[in-house]
Amino acid sequence: MLISSEKQKAVMTENGTHNGVSNGTTSEPSALSEQELEAINETWTLIWNDKKNNGIELFIKLFTHFPESQNFFKDFKGLPIEEVREHKKLRAHALSVMYALKSFIDNLDDEETLDALVRKNAQNHAERGVGEREVKMLLPAFLELLNEQLQEKTTDLHKSAWTKLFGVIALVAREEQNHLK
Ligand code: HEM
Repeated sequence: MLISSEKQKAVMTENGTHNGVSNGTTSEPSALSEQELEAINETWTLIWNDKKNNGIELFIKLFTHFPESQNFFKDFKGLPIEEVREHKKLRAHALSVMYALKSFIDNLDDEETLDALVRKNAQNHAERGVGEREVKMLLPAFLELLNEQLQEKTTDLHKSAWTKLFGVIALVAREEQNHLK
């Protein structure tokens, strides 16, 4: 589902999956166009070039906009945001997330590997009670970070591309939460 329609036809499989993400009973995000794929790769480079600081800023934005999301982290629960910002575990977590996102982005053209990576991450998070809702909370934080990196020049193409990618991550998160029920 993550790739443009021509390539998408080629990767549709017999059991109704695209890019390895099962149709299931959930609605599927639409495919990423070639332009959207390029937009992700280009803008990701900006984020990746300063991965440590950007990872920290991403989570600070998440915790600022959705303070309840901080409670999932036993090390940060109840701490004022400025203490969280300086916490060495935030730096480590932020970097783990950036490397995980990088692994997704590097595999946008390899449905099986992409599915395995996104699904494994979703399983680990579902076991902690982190799922679709929380992934959806991360999107506005990510778009805000991107807009800052682009000096307020985010385009509709950037937004649609990243929104679709987060849509896939959220969909798989929902599927893996349902598996735990
Ligand atoms: C889609 C974006 C995300 C990615 C790629 C991601 C990736 C990761 C990775 C790689 C780890 C460390 C390995 C592991 O233990 O699984 C981790 C841990 C964790 N993540 Fe995420 N994560 C994402 C979003 C979130 C969100 C939105 C939340 C909560 C609001 C969250 C909560 C946690 C928690 C609580 C841990 C364990 C931290 C600890 O060590 O105590 N993650 N995440």
